[in-house]
Amino acid sequence: MNNFTFYNPVKILFGKGQIAAIANEIPEDARVLITYGGGSIKKNGVYEQVMNALKGRSVTEFGGIEPNPQYETLMKAVSQAKSEQIDFVLAVGGGSVIDGTKFIVAAMEFEGEEPWDILSKKTPVTKAVPFGTVLTLPATGSEMNSGSVITRAETKEKFSFGSPYTFPKFSILDPETAFTLPQRQISNGVVDAFTHVLEQYLTYPVNAPLQDRMAEAILITLKEEGPKVIQNPQDYDAMANFMWCATMALNGVIRVGVPTDWATHYIGHELTALHGIDHARTLAIVLPSLLRYKLESKKEKLLQYGERVWGVDAGTEDERIEATMQATIAFFESLDIKTKLRDYEVGQDTIKEIVKRFEERGVKNLGERADIQVQDVEQILTMSL
Ligand code: NZQ
Ligand code: ZN
Repeated sequence: MNNFTFYNPVKILFGKGQIAAIANEIPEDARVLITYGGGSIKKNGVYEQVMNALKGRSVTEFGGIEPNPQYETLMKAVSQAKSEQIDFVLAVGGGSVIDGTKFIVAAMEFEGEEPWDILSKKTPVTKAVPFGTVLTLPATGSEMNSGSVITRAETKEKFSFGSPYTFPKFSILDPETAFTLPQRQISNGVVDAFTHVLEQYLTYPVNAPLQDRMAEAILITLKEEGPKVIQNPQDYDAMANFMWCATMALNGVIRVGVPTDWATHYIGHELTALHGIDHARTLAIVLPSLLRYKLESKKEKLLQYGERVWGVDAGTEDERIEATMQATIAFFESLDIKTKLRDYEVGQDTIKEIVKRFEERGVKNLGERADIQVQDVEQILTMSL
């Protein structure tokens, strides 16, 4: 096992009715800004529950954070928050609202020239306004990590940042808040969480059986519970299991001491930036080709994954790997997530554009062995056509 440092200070309040507890988590004299998305929380009672919990407190709001949150929108929130002297932000929504809020709290305290530098130049965040979250969409794990992905609409760029200052102080995970999710978002969530695990697991063995088995446990649970949630989004137990899987998939626990890949995410972000394809769908497009392209160097883990997660234990190594690939693709497709670029009307031009961007940006050494270069990205995307 590799050396590691593990730090995760996020307090989780899980289960039915937990929104009522937020008052205990936010300082009584705080000037609170509630951030949210396009309005789902106003239709499903979550907004009302939050407002009730904060009755008598100083509360203002900023709505309209879009999926794949935009810098331009978030900067409006920053100026509102500064003029209102906000000292605590509460994000209520999915990954986009939470990621957007991480950027808002960092940008509020940013002392450099332009907060975009946090994303484009990776200027380190050295302080941030404290924030908490009420999660309404299990998918990204953003509720229990310090990462954030932000889009600049003007330039169609999508970049990530993270810092020890952008961990939520607390996150409320009430599965009932997710009962109103449309099927598309549930499918996205299952595939996003599943891919988060694979990016930290399908690398090469370093004799870390606990991390492996924890990763496999999340994959198997997602495989079992995901379809149940799609069948009935109001199945509390299934939603609770799915929600906890998604959080555990990207809160740092399974990453410790093992190599991680993340090339699928890195490439996928370009497809969202250029074409607005849902994040999870970009992963379903890139991952199968990337696994095939890197088959030799991922062989041992692919065989282990096939056997332990999909029960593939017969045939030659090549046959088992192929069966494992097929099982993974079939799982995505069974959730109504297509896995080819052509399914999204994306072709060769986009591949050329991504290659150009990566060359300009000097992208190199992606993947767990730092051996994926721009020409490899081109080939991987070509396999996904
Ligand atoms: O905006 P509203 O009206 O709230 O509607 C949202 C949105 O349209 C809706 N929704 C959320 N909760 C709902 C609901 N609709 C009905 N009932 C509910 N309970 O769902 C739509 C999508 O929401 P969004 O937040 O965009 O989805 P998701 O949670 O999948 O987040 C995706 C974003 O997270 C980033 C992605 O790149 C993307 O920008 N990621 C963040 C990560 C992180 N911070 O660690 C890691 C991920 O790999 C990912 O990159
Ligand atoms: Zn993801």
